[in-house]
Amino acid sequence: MNYRISVLPGDGIGPEIIVEAKKVLEKVGEKFGHNFDFSEGLIGGCAIDKEGTPLPESTIELVGESDAVLLGAVGGPKWDTTDADKVRPEQGLLGLRKAMKTFANVRPVKAYKELKNASTLKNEVIEGVDLVIVRELTGGIYFGEQKRGSEEASDTCEYKSSEISRVVKFAAKIAGKRQKKVTSVDKANVLETSRLWRQKAEEILKSTNVEFSHMLVDNCAMQLIRDPKQFDVIVTENMFGDILSDEAAMLTGSIGMLSSGSFGEGKTALFEPIHGSAPDIAGQKVANPLGTISSCVLMLRHSFDLENEAQAIENAINKVLEKGYRTLDIMENDKKQAKTDEMGDLVAQEI
Ligand code: IPM
Ligand code: MG
Repeated sequence: MNYRISVLPGDGIGPEIIVEAKKVLEKVGEKFGHNFDFSEGLIGGCAIDKEGTPLPESTIELVGESDAVLLGAVGGPKWDTTDADKVRPEQGLLGLRKAMKTFANVRPVKAYKELKNASTLKNEVIEGVDLVIVRELTGGIYFGEQKRGSEEASDTCEYKSSEISRVVKFAAKIAGKRQKKVTSVDKANVLETSRLWRQKAEEILKSTNVEFSHMLVDNCAMQLIRDPKQFDVIVTENMFGDILSDEAAMLTGSIGMLSSGSFGEGKTALFEPIHGSAPDIAGQKVANPLGTISSCVLMLRHSFDLENEAQAIENAINKVLEKGYRTLDIMENDKKQAKTDEMGDLVAQEI
């Protein structure tokens, strides 16, 4: 079978990690008899440099013609600005999510046994952690009206009940295939959007067979560190999900390990690691490609329905870790340090 994948490497370590993910997908293709047809597009800072915009029309067209999208990362100090009138790389990513109508961003957080010492938290806290954050992706403060004066600024947080209902339904469906437990996270003691969120979430979740509860976001931030095993599926609005997923990443030892998939009404989903463009280490071949490679696992499983192929990559990652290979971010004394491309080779070899 032939699968068309748009590849958007972006900025910083994006291009380095994407090469490794393609390498692994190619190996899977060889082994299982599939053809992955990659076409590259521009997004983020590199798109600003070449085309003057972080999301060129050609990229939107490319994505529209593909079966799945694989993205590296966007942003970097070169394009950082506090000037409201200047374009920024992040607008490319946010614009892409919006253009693809991907409203549910799924971020699985599973502790690798091999990496239990890479986390800053105690083993007994993180051992066995297996949760999923479902982050709403096209609403909230990220997309509300923004104003900037010389001495004041505002960002508006807006939600429609339809936006809340669809993402909560999506989360309940995922929970249905897992521990059947949803925690809906909001700030209903302060924010009007959160009170609407809680009301709608309650309506939706009551009509499902999953167990559910509501939690305030500040408490959730604490509970994630205190006792992360209490969670199965967390569903929350855009900015809370952004913050909580970075926090939850540390339960696995490194944000470099984590994958994400963004799903919507359309058939094409977007896959990207959770980490950013890490400009401080770009070009040094020390970036961890496993988050991006794991995002390909989600792509194979959820977009192409290729479960055996997805498992082949998961097993390969586990074997490489068992053999003691580590990128810099998860390096420990008695382990063997692998560069970005070596890590990609190792995973490909195990497939
Ligand atoms: C993420 C990132 C993005 C976000 C940035 C790069 C715009 O932090 O995917 O979590 O805030 O959504
Ligand atoms: Mg983030």
